[in-house]
Amino acid sequence: MNDTPSVAEQFGGDAARRLEAMYLTPDIVAQRAAVLDRLRLQLGERVLDIGSGPGLLAASMAEQVGARGEIRGVDVSDTMVGLATARCSAFGWAGFQVADATSLPFADDSFDVVACTQVLEYVPDVEGAIAELRRVLRPGGRALIMDTDWQSCLWASSDDARMRRMLEVWDTHCAQPRLPRLLCGLLGRGGLEVRRVSTLPLINLAWSADTYSHGIAHAIAAFVGKSGLVPALMAEQWLEDFWVLAGTRNRYFFSLDRFMFET
Ligand SMILES: C[S@@+](CC[C@H](N)C(=O)[O-])C[C@H]1O[C@@H](n2cnc3c(N)ncnc32)[C@H](O)[C@@H]1O
Repeated sequence: MNDTPSVAEQFGGDAARRLEAMYLTPDIVAQRAAVLDRLRLQLGERVLDIGSGPGLLAASMAEQVGARGEIRGVDVSDTMVGLATARCSAFGWAGFQVADATSLPFADDSFDVVACTQVLEYVPDVEGAIAELRRVLRPGGRALIMDTDWQSCLWASSDDARMRRMLEVWDTHCAQPRLPRLLCGLLGRGGLEVRRVSTLPLINLAWSADTYSHGIAHAIAAFVGKSGLVPALMAEQWLEDFWVLAGTRNRYFFSLDRFMFET
């Protein structure tokens, strides 16, 4: 039996708060800084954040565009919209609402900039989402899209076959597990010219609670453990292995690439 949770389940309730904690680790703080660096926001710009999650990127963007600018965020999870609204309450020019990336509640050409980080990989109708992104972006506006391909993951393990199986099942947590290698073509066919593609590596050399890989390992173990696709103990033993590798042999190693597309 494969009980893949819906996107709303994956990003609602306590899962939203766990993701928020993971997105506050230094690894993801640095990732956001890299995204902001590439966005080069100007005072007064109107920005849309598609799949705005807990609003951490939106809060930084609100500071950068200032009160004469505008930040709008949409997300399918109402818990995420609540977290983002609370986080940005000091910025009267930032607002969030529940909406799907494939049906944006905005007029054509509404935004100077659109950001969509770690979201399109969860959208089954990715062409529809790209069409909507382009529709609301003004001619000459800028978009930044970031996604992950877990085949870029290098993760030390005492059992390579088990690691492969865990990541194979984890691939089923999203609709588009290989999206980065398809995105240039999809964006181009959607009328968005890709000007730059870059990678952003996340590297952890320690098994420690304030790292991205510690947080995502627990999310993977919970997801795969509940999937019914592997023996019940496999996920637990896989997780335990990181502690053993790090503690007894100083052999913990994790690396994963994010891919950023700028139009
Ligand atoms: C991994 S989080 C990334 C959050 C945020 N963009 C960031 O980078 O900090 C993915 C977010 O996308 C949202 N999401 C997934 N599918 C969506 C869709 N079809 N439309 C809008 N939001 C979606 C989820 O609810 C979740 O908040």
